[in-house]
Amino acid sequence: MKEIIRKQILSCLGENQKEFRRIFFGRGRNLPFNIDRLDFRTILITCFEEIDINSFLFLDFPNIIIQNRYTKPCEIFTLKGELKDSYIVQENGISFKVYLDGNQNIGLFPEMRLLKNFLKEESKGKKVLNMFSYTCSFSVYCALGGAREIHNIDMMKSALERGRENHRLNLIDLKNIYFHKHNIKKSWGLLKRKGPFDLIIFDPPSAQGKSFTAQSDYQNMLSRLPQLLTREGRAIICLNSPHISYNQLQVWASNSLYDMSFERRIDVGPECYDYGPCESVKIQIWKKNVRTNL
Ligand SMILES: C[S@@+](CC[C@H](N)C(=O)[O-])C[C@H]1O[C@@H](n2cnc3c(N)ncnc32)[C@H](O)[C@@H]1O
Repeated sequence: MKEIIRKQILSCLGENQKEFRRIFFGRGRNLPFNIDRLDFRTILITCFEEIDINSFLFLDFPNIIIQNRYTKPCEIFTLKGELKDSYIVQENGISFKVYLDGNQNIGLFPEMRLLKNFLKEESKGKKVLNMFSYTCSFSVYCALGGAREIHNIDMMKSALERGRENHRLNLIDLKNIYFHKHNIKKSWGLLKRKGPFDLIIFDPPSAQGKSFTAQSDYQNMLSRLPQLLTREGRAIICLNSPHISYNQLQVWASNSLYDMSFERRIDVGPECYDYGPCESVKIQIWKKNVRTNL
C-alpha cells in the first residue's frame, strides 16, 4: 500500500502544492480510502472501512486528518497535527471554504476539477442553470468565466448559504446570481419560469433518500432538460454511481435528450480514475441539434 500511495503522491508533486487536490483515489483500486490534500500542510484521509490508520504516519504532512465514513455519524479526528472546523482552500487558483464539521461531504468535490476549468472557459455571456448546486462551486467558476446570469438550485438552505459565501470569497458580484431553495423532484415550474438556459449543469447525487435515486429519477429528469434549453443550448450531465456504467448513461441520455446529440466526454483526471477513465465519475456534454432552414 505504502508504495502505491508514495508513487501517486510523487506524481502530484509537480503540480501546485498549495492547491486542493485528490492525491489518491483508493476505492476503485480496492484500497478503501481516499486521500485529499487541502493545502501544503494538511491532508484528509477518508476511510470507507476500518483500517490501520497508523500506516499513514509515513506521509510527510504536518496535519493528517482522518474521516471515518463507515461510522454513523462520521468520525473526524487528527492522526497528527491540528484540526480546524473549516479551511479556505485554493482550487485552480480560486478560493473555497471547506468544512470538516462532521458532515460526510466537505463542500468541494476534487473529481470535478477538469469540468470546472471547462465551465470557466465556456460560460462567457451565458445564462446558466446549476441543478443540485450544493455549495455552488460550479457557479463560482461560471461567474468568473463571465456568465451573464446563473440560477443555483438545491433543496438544502445551508448548502446555498455556503455557496453564497464561496462567491463572496472570490469578490464576485451577486447581482445576477440566484440561489433557489427548491426540491427539483417536486416541481419543474420554477425552472421553466427562469429559463431558457444556454448551459445546464445536471449533477445529482447517486442516491439521497426520497429526494433522488439515480435508478428511478435520472432518466426521467433528463427527459425534461431539452425544453429548458435555448436553441443552441448545451447540457452537462454527471453521474457518480459505480453501479451504473458509462454505456448505460449513454443509453439513458440518447433515449431522453430529445433532439440533442452527444458532443464529448469530460475527463476527471487520472488521480480519480476508478476502473478506468470511463467508469469513474461520468461527465458528458450534450448539445441541441441546430436546425438550418434550407
Ligand atoms: C452530489 S451533491 C451535488 C454536487 C455539486 N454539483 C457540486 O459539484 O458541488 C448533491 C446535492 O443535491 C441536492 N439534492 C438532492 N436531491 C435534490 C432534489 N430533489 N432537489 C434539489 N436538490 C437536491 C443535495 O441537497 C446536495 O446538495
